[in-house]
Amino acid sequence: MPIAIWTPELSLGVASLDADHQKLIDTLNLVFDALLFDRSSSALNSALTTLDDYVTEHFAREEAWMQARHHPDLARHQQEHKALRDHLALLCASRDLSDQERSVELLMILRDWLLGHIAHSDRDASGA
Ligand SMILES: [Fe+2]
Ligand SMILES: [Fe+2]
Repeated sequence: MPIAIWTPELSLGVASLDADHQKLIDTLNLVFDALLFDRSSSALNSALTTLDDYVTEHFAREEAWMQARHHPDLARHQQEHKALRDHLALLCASRDLSDQERSVELLMILRDWLLGHIAHSDRDASGA
């Protein structure tokens, strides 16, 4: 059951970053499924590790893309990325399945934050 869906309104018109955002949304959905339906800690840990790794990879790619364009908002954008990483660290720290309700709540916060960031900050940065 998806908790986040890619829509064309999220597109930046930059193929590599759009592909990253779609993969991040897919991975958020994997974490949610593992959290609610799989109930094995190995599936959840694996989905969270995938998400954490891909967030790191995407942020580096996006920041390099901005840096190459001497984007004036780079420092502020990096701070926003750090805020998402902080949310993700909280989620990873509460990966104990007995704390499922808190983990779902954190995941929803992460989803809202990520979709809002793509729709506003990333779009502004790309000029889309
Ligand atoms: Fe992004
Ligand atoms: Fe971003």
